[in-house]
Amino acid sequence: MFDRQKKGDRALLLLPHSRGQGDASRRADEFAELVRSAGAEVLGVVAARVEDPSPRYYVGSGKADEVAEAVRMLEADLVLVDHLLTPVQERNLEKLLNVRVVDRAGLILDIFAQRARSHEGKLEVELAQLKHLATRLVRGWTHLDTQRGGAIGNRGPGETQLETDRRLLGERVKMLGKRLQKVQTQRGQQRRARLRNTVPRVALVGYTNAGKSTLFNALTTGEVYAADQLFATLDPTVRKLDDLTCGPAVLSDTVGFIRDLPHDLVAAFRGTLAEARDADLLLHVSDAADEERDQLYRVVDGVLDEIDAGEVPQLQVMNKVDLAGVVPRIDRDAEGRPQRVWVSAATGSGIDLLRQALGELLGGERVHSWLRLPLSAGRLHARLKSVGAIAGETVDEHGWQLRIDAPRSVIAPLSGGDATEVRLLRELLEPAV
Ligand code: GTP
Repeated sequence: MFDRQKKGDRALLLLPHSRGQGDASRRADEFAELVRSAGAEVLGVVAARVEDPSPRYYVGSGKADEVAEAVRMLEADLVLVDHLLTPVQERNLEKLLNVRVVDRAGLILDIFAQRARSHEGKLEVELAQLKHLATRLVRGWTHLDTQRGGAIGNRGPGETQLETDRRLLGERVKMLGKRLQKVQTQRGQQRRARLRNTVPRVALVGYTNAGKSTLFNALTTGEVYAADQLFATLDPTVRKLDDLTCGPAVLSDTVGFIRDLPHDLVAAFRGTLAEARDADLLLHVSDAADEERDQLYRVVDGVLDEIDAGEVPQLQVMNKVDLAGVVPRIDRDAEGRPQRVWVSAATGSGIDLLRQALGELLGGERVHSWLRLPLSAGRLHARLKSVGAIAGETVDEHGWQLRIDAPRSVIAPLSGGDATEVRLLRELLEPAV
């Protein structure tokens, strides 16, 4: 024992699988990666074939005994189960194994708790954790020595709620719910303000570890946390996207998606994921070097559907071409529109092509029209000129006759001016039909 630096987080993994569940070893690797990204050490793995889950332990009792034996041998102090457990199954397993047992939802919540950065994200995590805890509070905590250390499943509200009863928990849930609602209202207002600005919004989505944060950094200036850890980003981070032919846009990074994301959690994080739903365009990032990339692409599409972002136009980004041995290029559909861009976010190759594709897609709607401006609207004339929207002009004593040809996204932010200018701009953007 003396060679152990810190107690806790020495985990044994229990991996139930059933027929027709796909590649079990890939799932096992991914779960181990999730566990490591939660900060635990993986001591060993017990696989369990489960066709008919038992209400008592989820796995059969013979398998549960096998796990107990492994826990003793390896001196594990935590068992992580790659499945959702009922509170009763979790309690029974804890009693039998005499160590903490955390299921897939508990683990993902724990990772969310560590990664949340925005105020809204933190509130969402705490609320989801408390709700998860509330279903498990019946166990009374007495069967486990809570001083055993370790963080997973104990982090966050769990630490302070041990001595707290249901009533207090309920009050806290209510209070957090209210606070969250307020933050979300403010966010909604900000979003609406942004919509009025009509700067196009682009959101990065993709399976966890596809390289979204790296791409975010490659496309924008400044740093954002990127790490070879699942869920390195939980909260959307928003930055300005410059140097596009369509004019500026905003880019937001979102949480990495993962298969079997418990449905409750998707619901709990709708606010955080709203960034994707409200975008004008999704950059759907895949790891081109991953042989399962097509399957993971469909997983992400499934989650997007669940959060009502299934209809948002997508540009597919095949990242990590340096590993896949592919030359950067743009693939286009039958109409010549960019559909897929092959890049390496890490080396920067193909990023210029991605910018080009973004410019084409976002600037897609162009304003082609004639505009008659009185001489008194000199400021609007100057603003249109400064953004390069004037393709030709004549002037006489009544004013200018302008030929406008520019992406809508370039003209739309030119708000302001006097009443005539505001009206003229509105007519330009919303021609009568
Ligand atoms: P989550 O936040 O977990 O969803 O991950 P993410 O999609 O934001 O991935 P991230 O940018 O953190 O990248 C994951 C790993 O892939 C990191 O180790 C990156 O350095 C690496 N990576 C990203 N892009 C490339 C690339 O183009 N080539 C190579 N070789 N590695 C890359």
